[in-house]
Amino acid sequence: MRVKLTQLSMAHDDMGSRAPVLFIHGYPLNRRMWQPQMDDLWDVARLLAVDLRGHGESEAPPGPYSMDALADDCAEFLEAMRVRQPVVVCGLSMGGYVAMAFYRRHRARVGGLIFTATRAAADSEAARAARNTAIVTAQTHGVAAIAESMLPKLFAPATYDHNPALVARVKAMMLQTALAGVLGVLPALRDRADSTPMLPEIAVPTLVIHGEADAIVPLAEAQAMHAAIPNARLAIVPQAGHLPNLEQPARFNAAVRDFLETL
Ligand code: MLT
Repeated sequence: MRVKLTQLSMAHDDMGSRAPVLFIHGYPLNRRMWQPQMDDLWDVARLLAVDLRGHGESEAPPGPYSMDALADDCAEFLEAMRVRQPVVVCGLSMGGYVAMAFYRRHRARVGGLIFTATRAAADSEAARAARNTAIVTAQTHGVAAIAESMLPKLFAPATYDHNPALVARVKAMMLQTALAGVLGVLPALRDRADSTPMLPEIAVPTLVIHGEADAIVPLAEAQAMHAAIPNARLAIVPQAGHLPNLEQPARFNAAVRDFLETL
């Protein structure tokens, strides 16, 4: 399904009819990464999964983008879908950065937060330099080169060994991302604000979920977020890397279901 926003047409899925949960994917993925959640959690929530601008089947307006713009797209999307009640925002990695920007800018709309495989800190100088290198790589060699560079870091060793079909599926998902989307969003990742000072101000129930073997965002980042947010719980997913919702869907879904049932 698609909905027309001011700057783009946004692709999304919408399942179930209870309290709304907004799922925001990581970079450079799309809403299909939430399939195991859409299949399982529809009885406890209304599941809304979006393709951010420049990703999946959403349009890619000209860049550069910003986390604030991505968060504002989500707010406009909820408005267009007539979602008036507070929403639980569940973001993975970059989706978590968007969720933080969303909380900063649209706090009254948020009833809960789920931070998955993400961090509050801004990019370090080294990480910012790596984003600039990635921009040149994408311009010269395309999205395939970005996918090749990310693929070896995304999963836990057990996933590479036992679930090659998942690895192939995620690679295909990355290859579907438009070059304009990758080039639009890399500056947004590079220049995003430090959300660490906001963590103690988070006034809604929060679940932090992290793969034990995440090679992109170390587990210590999740533990620090959990410690800094007043009403937070932490779920560590064993035998999962950066995509715990896909690598260990049963464990991930159980943690989300438990959390949603407490709200
Ligand atoms: C993601 O999975 O969204 C990215 O790894 C986030 C990042 O590069 O900071």
